[in-house]
Amino acid sequence: MSGTLTIDDQTIPFSDGQTIIEAARTAGVYIPHLCHRPGYTPHGSCKLCTVKVNGRTCSACTFPAAEGQKVVNNSEELQEARLRITQMLFVEGNHFCPTCEKSGNCELQAVGYHLNMLDNHFPHFYAHRKVDASHPDILIDHNRCIFCNLCVRASRESDGKDVFGIAGRGIHKRLIVNSPTGQLKDSNISVEDCAVQVCPTGAILVKRTGYKTPIGGRIYDQHPISTIACKKRETDAT
Ligand code: SF4
Ligand code: FES
Repeated sequence: MSGTLTIDDQTIPFSDGQTIIEAARTAGVYIPHLCHRPGYTPHGSCKLCTVKVNGRTCSACTFPAAEGQKVVNNSEELQEARLRITQMLFVEGNHFCPTCEKSGNCELQAVGYHLNMLDNHFPHFYAHRKVDASHPDILIDHNRCIFCNLCVRASRESDGKDVFGIAGRGIHKRLIVNSPTGQLKDSNISVEDCAVQVCPTGAILVKRTGYKTPIGGRIYDQHPISTIACKKRETDAT
């Protein structure tokens, strides 16, 4: 089955089984998101993709596309809510872009630019979480984790492993490594794993590659996320 729906009055087609975000992406319409990645099981946790469908508030990454839906994506109200969510993510962890190796390749930073984020709005938490540098090739800076669950799903669904998990709730939420010591060096992760590549922030990094591409020449230095996210990315599962 297939049909059409409208997003901000633009008619777009969808095919059977597609969510609203996937139908939008296929048509080149960007709906901001962070925990969604094509091909991975939807998670619906970051709420950045919130849209209105026939007047109801829904997550576009989990809500199935259906005939005749009227979707509002680009309203002032929704962009304001997305801006607040993004600002919360920034203050809850340590996202200091000018000193982060991921700057210019970071989706959180790129979403901040898309939403014209000019300040943090909220007081900073100054997170004091661990850095796991135990693995010879991979580093985890837990202070930059936004708990999007993408590494958990990528490890399970693409790598056929189960390296990561998320434990705890609220401010006690944390990314855990499934290894006898809880350290990355004792897990079966490898540097080629999709779980290493998929992180939308600088939480999971490959060592000695941080400045391979100079700042200014990186993906979101060159193109807005609204363009990049509508194309196939290397870290998509499909
Ligand atoms: S480490 Fe990265 S991919 Fe994994 S949950 Fe945190 S932000 Fe998401
Ligand atoms: S992208 Fe939909 S909730 Fe995160």
